[in-house]
Amino acid sequence: MRKHIVAGNWKMNNSIQEGLELVKAIKANYAGDNQLIIGAPFLHLSMVNETLEGSSIAVAAQNCHHEESGAFTGEISTSMLASANIPYVIIGHSERREYNHETNAQLAAKVDLALKDKLIPIFCCGESLEIREKEQHFNWITAQLKESVFHLTAENFAKIVIAYEPIWAIGTGVTASVEQAQEIHAHIRKEIARQYDTAIADGISILYGGSCKPDNAQELFANADVDGGLIGGASLKADEFIAIANSF
Ligand code: PGA
Repeated sequence: MRKHIVAGNWKMNNSIQEGLELVKAIKANYAGDNQLIIGAPFLHLSMVNETLEGSSIAVAAQNCHHEESGAFTGEISTSMLASANIPYVIIGHSERREYNHETNAQLAAKVDLALKDKLIPIFCCGESLEIREKEQHFNWITAQLKESVFHLTAENFAKIVIAYEPIWAIGTGVTASVEQAQEIHAHIRKEIARQYDTAIADGISILYGGSCKPDNAQELFANADVDGGLIGGASLKADEFIAIANSF
């Protein structure tokens, strides 16, 4: 059985005080056994981690740098995250690819550093509307996987989590249909099986992200190849996030 994962991505939202209230509410009200992850801003990570002590809910950084250390003002390295006992790191979110011009090669370096420092990468892939309309989305996703994660050894690849997030669905209120989500998730799993083997493909959790809400999570998660979600907007409200977490 693959791990069911619901990961929140707060993005650049919440003061420390608001974040603390939100984490406390999630911790107090979630009783299920799916893996919940809270992707918080760097400044919040230690606070979130301490507040979650004694629960199975885990914290994730939203990014890390692609170099090990050095003169990169304002950046955070994977070893810093590891030293703060942060277990997960989101890598390659489409907002970072777009606004920070992150390339597939840089993302490959981030994935390598994260694994070296024993962090679990939540690797994001996904296509723009333009690419989907040209019907190039399958090739696009395959290329993202090839250039950023398929260089990993089978042993390392088996540790990562993948999130498929169609850019046209992120923060737009437009969700991929159940069929569209399943189709791409099955494609990703098939490509993993081709690159590695079916045992590895069957073991990898593939999350869907993009306007996932309490009212559509259940039908999305019912798909054979959708193992959970990466949740932006709806992760900012404890009741919505928990409702999504309970949607399996
Ligand atoms: P959304 O964001 O749920 O607000 O669409 C998802 C994401 O960007 O991870």
